[in-house]
Amino acid sequence: MTHYENNTIVLAKHPEGPLQLSDFRNQTTSVRALEPGEFLIANQWLSLDPYIRSRLNYSTDYVSSVQCGDVIAGETVGVVVASRNPNFNKGDKVFAYSGWQQYHISNERDFIVHTLPQVDLPDTVFLNTVGTPGRTAYFGMTRIAKPQAGETLVVSAASGAVGSTVGQIGKMAGCRVVGIAGSEKKCRYVVDELGFDICINYHDSDFKHQLRRACPAGVDIYFENVGGRISVLVAQLLNDGARVPVCGNAANYDRASEIAASSPADFFSSLPNPPANRFFLVTEWFKDYPESDAWLINALRDGKLKYRETIVDGLEKAPQAFIDLLNARHFGKQIVKIK
Ligand SMILES: NC(=O)c1ccc[n+]([C@@H]2O[C@H](COP(=O)([O-])OP(=O)(O)OC[C@H]3O[C@@H](n4cnc5c(N)ncnc54)[C@H](OP(=O)(O)O)[C@@H]3O)[C@@H](O)[C@H]2O)c1
Repeated sequence: MTHYENNTIVLAKHPEGPLQLSDFRNQTTSVRALEPGEFLIANQWLSLDPYIRSRLNYSTDYVSSVQCGDVIAGETVGVVVASRNPNFNKGDKVFAYSGWQQYHISNERDFIVHTLPQVDLPDTVFLNTVGTPGRTAYFGMTRIAKPQAGETLVVSAASGAVGSTVGQIGKMAGCRVVGIAGSEKKCRYVVDELGFDICINYHDSDFKHQLRRACPAGVDIYFENVGGRISVLVAQLLNDGARVPVCGNAANYDRASEIAASSPADFFSSLPNPPANRFFLVTEWFKDYPESDAWLINALRDGKLKYRETIVDGLEKAPQAFIDLLNARHFGKQIVKIK
């Protein structure tokens, strides 16, 4: 096999507060020879996802943590460059959990590794609208929120990869869709490009009053992506029979222990008249991914779903891009192009 040098980014130390560049380290290793059943992926695109921050803590109740010296976890799209597996051939484009590295040795036991479907869509959508964020929106809406025409849906992190898809699905279902985002530019995009009815900037001093005015008939569905103060304000507007799919807690990820922050599910359950709410992981519907993928691909090709990406060029820029993502300096889905 050709000799490959693998540029990787590993965890130098568990963060002791907000993530720092010094928490990461670049490391170069040689790629070993393939065993029977294995194939080598040259990664081309890396997805940066807020929840990965929780995995960098020493321990977490979300998913198992990344240990010091481990390659940072992450979803990738790449191309097979060598193979000893009859089902993965040189030249195949594949999705895998390769992590923050140039090359990844995979086999069929690797979690969720699969070849990309042959469709006329850019490869990056498989990290975005037809990947984890899109599926999360699809299952959170169809399996938990179950929107009805005429209902009011509020979505936090509305310009992000998950929230933007949630709101567009809500519009297709006939809901009044109220987005919440962190800048005027993001709010304009959410209304003008994605078709939400209204979007409110949570940094505005009168955010609470704007939110109340935007929901004159109360809130039937709150799609929770962030937690914190926004949950408290939306909770005051929930109608009887409201549903709250608890998808994420982004306001609380960038700290040394997420456990210290109250989880949105605990908060909503503690209300005097609690809405139907539960934390979910998209992988609960793993066996139904063919259903979500077919729906999301069709909606994209029909122009019914739109998305936006921020792409940085070069694996070495991933740590800064991830810090920027945690501070909401990105716009849409954050992706790294690996040289
Ligand atoms: N449950 C699952 O299986 C699953 C799967 C995938 C993702 N998720 C979760 O879904 C959520 C959205 O993911 P994404 O990839 O689409 O991320 P994203 O929306 O691109 O990024 C997170 C956003 O959260 C918002 N945010 C952060 N701190 C906030 C605060 N204090 N108050 C209000 N908003 C705040 C920011 O929005 P602005 O940019 O508008 O400021 C930020 O951009 C995340 O919580 C993620 O962990 C869950």
